[in-house]
Amino acid sequence: MNGDAETDPQAAIDAAASDRDERVYEHGAGDEQEGIPFVGAGPGDPRLLTVAGRELLSDADLVVHAGSLVNSELLAEYCADAETVSSIGKDLEELIPLMRDAHERGETVVRLHSGDPAIYGAALEQMDALEHEGVPTYIVPGVTSAFAASATLRTQLTLNEVANHVAFTRPQGETLDEDEDHISEFVGMGDVTTCIYLGTHAVSETMDRLLDDGHDPETPVAAVYHASWPDEDVIEGTIETIGEKLEAAGYRASAMVVVGDAVGGEEYERSFLYGEWASGGGGGDGGDSQEADD
Ligand SMILES: C[S@@+](CC[C@H](N)C(=O)[O-])C[C@H]1O[C@@H](n2cnc3c(N)ncnc32)[C@H](O)[C@@H]1O
Repeated sequence: MNGDAETDPQAAIDAAASDRDERVYEHGAGDEQEGIPFVGAGPGDPRLLTVAGRELLSDADLVVHAGSLVNSELLAEYCADAETVSSIGKDLEELIPLMRDAHERGETVVRLHSGDPAIYGAALEQMDALEHEGVPTYIVPGVTSAFAASATLRTQLTLNEVANHVAFTRPQGETLDEDEDHISEFVGMGDVTTCIYLGTHAVSETMDRLLDDGHDPETPVAAVYHASWPDEDVIEGTIETIGEKLEAAGYRASAMVVVGDAVGGEEYERSFLYGEWASGGGGGDGGDSQEADD
């Protein structure tokens, strides 16, 4: 492949492996592999980048990063010697040749996504397009913003007898039709902590829909703006109040909105893990029927 080759992302997606890629069995997450790593930068604080990510960045000649949600301090601290290019405003037809050509010139390329590339990262279409053009790729995980938000809120997303499940979701909008928006269903399940990505601008509308669907207006909701950044802010309220509070604070982007009783980190029950199971001599990994890893 050379620099003049045309990129056809749709053909790459259509041709994406029908057989399982052998690399799935040959490598574990965190292994350094051949090709361009798609690295999760974490939520913002440079110290929340993984060690693997930091090592890859320090060797990079070109870092293509996800714009405003990748902290410029992280770029300055960990890849000062690399050329850094923001992916904002670039389509696949521009991004793929940029990375492919640098790779083919023998440069070390890193694609840096905010949080974890596997969550609302649109990473796979880039990886498939690069692979289609002969450039190997792989994923290096990062701390997703929902995890940064739960740390800030000093709670767990799953909490014994409060929340047994977690939903990572987004509201209807340009990408998602009304009938693909499942926030109301998740909230209606009761023991789900619903983490809403990409919805800061539409919190009032989202909460209005929950009220229209008859959900308890007192259900706790927290919005963590810029979790782990120096200007991090926490706005707490309920389904009924959070929209107005967020609008008053002026945040229209970059918040993680968490809905459910686990937000407050209270009224949970002591866990089986450090109770009966432990005092009954529990050990090992607990097995499938009684999994007790913490
Ligand atoms: C395109 S998605 C990328 C998500 C990212 N891959 C992750 O794992 O966090 C962008 C959305 O993630 C959320 N987000 C990303 N970083 C955040 C942070 N530091 N604090 C709060 N929310 C964040 C916001 O909801 C934002 O609209």
